[in-house]
Amino acid sequence: MPSEMYLPPRITPRNLHFAFETSLPADWHSGNPAITSFYDALSLTFPEGERFFISSVRCFASGIFDPKLKADVDAFTAQESVHSREHAGYNALLRARGIPVEKFEVMVKKGTAFVQRHLGRKNQLAATCGYEHYTALFAELILGDERVLAGAHPFYRDLWRWHAMEEEEHKAVAFDVYTAAAKDRLIWLRRVVAMIVVTVDLSLTTFALSLWLMKKRGQIGNWKAWAGSFWYLWISPGVWRRVMRGVFAYMAPGFHPWKRKVKPAVLAWRAYYRARTNRLPAASSIFESATA
Ligand SMILES: [Fe+2]
Ligand SMILES: [Fe+2]
Repeated sequence: MPSEMYLPPRITPRNLHFAFETSLPADWHSGNPAITSFYDALSLTFPEGERFFISSVRCFASGIFDPKLKADVDAFTAQESVHSREHAGYNALLRARGIPVEKFEVMVKKGTAFVQRHLGRKNQLAATCGYEHYTALFAELILGDERVLAGAHPFYRDLWRWHAMEEEEHKAVAFDVYTAAAKDRLIWLRRVVAMIVVTVDLSLTTFALSLWLMKKRGQIGNWKAWAGSFWYLWISPGVWRRVMRGVFAYMAPGFHPWKRKVKPAVLAWRAYYRARTNRLPAASSIFESATA
């Protein structure tokens, strides 16, 4: 891990609206229901998850006096609110397709309420830092490796890239608030323990939800789809394997999100989203300009 910090970009909320219509393909990633279920599982956790991130960061807002960090918290809140809204739309389409997503939503709401009642504010913020590191790692892969969304329908490709872009932009906000707020002996230990808990939670939830979604889709026995998903997540491009690898760096006492190398393709997507228009460029042109 390099000791220097990369220059953080300005955090820019983009109030994008996505039209989730039933004409979109159900198996939108590579025509594979298992890979699609992996992403759909993540989406199911987002509306409530992002609300939790916002509240755990804003709990400390009154104690922040650095004007830059104050502005970052506001921009972070705006970005996560729009993500929460758009993923609620995403999940509503799953419901329209006959998946009883409200059952999971009730469960996740109860879980969040329990955590908010029984876990201290610093612990909640430490957990948010862990989740935000995961979203940043996913973002890095989505933006930095063309293969990750190559098989995706253009509509979903745009949605996930936009979300990834903003996660990459605000990846250090919760961490900076935590560093400013948790000035005690446990500052490092708390975030490491929280990261272990977050890792177990995210792995189990994503796996269990993927199984559940495949069952509801009547695809639970589709071994070809499962094999394709295993290949995608663990071998090539190896999304989950590479995300897991990025967790180790987080455990270092001197870790900071902006110490992670920012790939040229990520910079190219940043430039594209800075001048966001409704017209999407061919993905390959972004990746080509990034590697030229
Ligand atoms: Fe988000
Ligand atoms: Fe985030």
